[in-house]
Amino acid sequence: MQIRIEQAKLSDLPRLQALAEAMRLPKEPGLFERYFELQTQGEREVLLAAADGADAGYCLLNWNPKYGFFRAQGWPEIQDINVVHALRRRGIASSMIRYCEDRARAKGLRQMGIGVGLDFSFGPAQILYIKRGYVPDGNGITYDRKQIAPGEFRPLDDQMCLMMVKDLKG
Ligand SMILES: CC(C)(COP(=O)(O)OP(=O)(O)OC[C@H]1O[C@@H](n2cnc3c(N)ncnc32)[C@H](O)[C@@H]1OP(=O)(O)O)[C@@H](O)C(=O)NCCC(=O)NCCS
Repeated sequence: MQIRIEQAKLSDLPRLQALAEAMRLPKEPGLFERYFELQTQGEREVLLAAADGADAGYCLLNWNPKYGFFRAQGWPEIQDINVVHALRRRGIASSMIRYCEDRARAKGLRQMGIGVGLDFSFGPAQILYIKRGYVPDGNGITYDRKQIAPGEFRPLDDQMCLMMVKDLKG
């Protein structure tokens, strides 16, 4: 299978929307348009993955993440990585991650950040990130990108994340 990763253009909006629909991702209207605005401002990159010419997934590379710890270190963050069900376990997410890491290296950066949810639906992502060399960033659990103190309560939803980092070699 030939996997191709490319930066999406505004004209690719229908491709992203079709992917989100195929995966039944709850995306509020105008979200992808906002991503493209941020891409134009150099804040984010919207990346599309195709497998043998068919759209297979997308992710975001955020150069200026909301999470204060990553921001303070100047670490970029891979976000919103998704692969269509029928094409999972073929290395597509791994290719997107590798692409993002190469982009960071090309900018002279030495770390890449990523966050993962904690409920079972994020199980594949948890395994994937650890296999790709990501380790917890040492700050415990976050909610809406803020550290949670011992004894605090938060719902176990997709705002509750373990933030992880990888040292990029070479
Ligand atoms: C997480 C996700 C992006 C992985 O995409 P993918 O293209 O299937 O991932 P890859 O094929 O690159 O997987 C690489 C490795 O990760 C691990 N992995 C991935 N999915 C796995 C699963 N369901 N069970 C066990 N291991 C898994 C395996 O080690 C796999 O290698 P292998 O297939 O050779 O064993 C995909 O499952 C997905 O879209 N999930 C829903 C959205 C999501 O959770 N996004 C992450 C938000 S934090």
